[in-house]
Amino acid sequence: MVVERYAPADPGLALTDPALYAHGDPHAVWARLRREAPVSWHDEPGHEGFWAVTTYPEGLDVLTDSSRFSSTRGTFLRPNLSDPFPGGGRMMTLTDPPRHGVLRGVLSRLFSPRAARSFEARAGEVAHRLMAEVTDAGPRDFVDDVAARYPLAVTAALLGVAPEDVDRVAAWTGTAADNIVDIDGSTAQQAHLEVLQYYAEVLEDRRRRPGDDVVSAFVLAQAEGLDISDEEIILTCDNLVVAAGETTRQVTGAGLLALLDAPEQAAALRRGEISRKHAVEEMLRWSAPVNHIMRTALADTEVAGVPIGAGQAVSVWLPSLNRDESVFERPEEFRLDRRPNRHASFGGGGHFCIGAPLARLMIAALLDELVDERIEIALAGEPRRIPSYITGGLDRLPITVTSR
Ligand code: HEM
Repeated sequence: MVVERYAPADPGLALTDPALYAHGDPHAVWARLRREAPVSWHDEPGHEGFWAVTTYPEGLDVLTDSSRFSSTRGTFLRPNLSDPFPGGGRMMTLTDPPRHGVLRGVLSRLFSPRAARSFEARAGEVAHRLMAEVTDAGPRDFVDDVAARYPLAVTAALLGVAPEDVDRVAAWTGTAADNIVDIDGSTAQQAHLEVLQYYAEVLEDRRRRPGDDVVSAFVLAQAEGLDISDEEIILTCDNLVVAAGETTRQVTGAGLLALLDAPEQAAALRRGEISRKHAVEEMLRWSAPVNHIMRTALADTEVAGVPIGAGQAVSVWLPSLNRDESVFERPEEFRLDRRPNRHASFGGGGHFCIGAPLARLMIAALLDELVDERIEIALAGEPRRIPSYITGGLDRLPITVTSR
């Protein structure tokens, strides 16, 4: 192991510097870490430091072993890791087994691949409507006008959001996810509180009138005697609605930009020479919107021979796993027909993204619209990257869409 070759003082390797993601080249930094120190220690001046894992097998080792690595202290790096994290141990994503299995078990039927398929028509309809609204409408921002509005418009019924509340809730989740940029931002916290308050009301409503959504599934489980508090339900709904909205949008934004750079591949997809299924996986591998996932070592352990101390933070960098040369052939190339493509964009192990079937289906439906032969999409300005070490992607993608 070559961990000692890593120089923590090297400013070019500051993984938590927002500037690296806004203007720098994080892929160059990750590539160097993969080569020189796949498991490396990073000091954070004034704060607790952290381990960074940048290679695929080592990253999966951390994510798949909840007996060594816990989620309860939070799943993203933040400056004050020792402060208790809101929702730790109660919000599904912030629990470990066996509690995690109990909460996830309540939701599994609603998120099965079969259940996701029932959203196919809805996804096609919404994708078509949103693209029609920006066609022949002059310069528009793909992120604001399409990508950000799309996921919740498709999944609202599942997530217990009434049709008339979709825009309101989408605005809150967008702001709530801004803590990816300003981690201590009170506006982001306020938006989370709005979402929690919203779900407290939905919960009361579903007790009287259960439906077929996530809140009703929890209400039913409670009524059947499962020990789940209202707080756990509300926090997990907040987790769901933010996770659904803020990741899918990044894949479609970054994916569209990659498609605009590869018109011959877009044309091959349009002609049916590349399967839509493979194209979706490559868009996911390429965009990898979750930059890292954090775990905390439960006891002294090791990863690839590097000793990790009990209580230390271990971060796994998913876009770097997706470019691991030992797993992917020519990983730096965007190839819509890539096979095999076992990317890590949805994580791995017990917390593997529960919304993956839905996300795949939504990306596929929007992709159909993006390569539709009746329209032409062109860049209309400089894309802007999100300055965040948590969420990777674009917060602005100016385009024009014209009918042919
Ligand atoms: C392309 C879109 C998406 C990406 C890249 C993505 C990525 C991820 C990743 C990396 C994790 C693992 C987190 C961890 O291990 O700590 C995760 C978990 C999760 N995702 Fe997604 N996600 C996407 C879409 C969605 C959608 C559409 C939903 C819901 C409708 C969703 C809901 C969740 C939830 C609830 C969890 C926590 C699962 C658990 O703790 O068991 N995600 N997602």
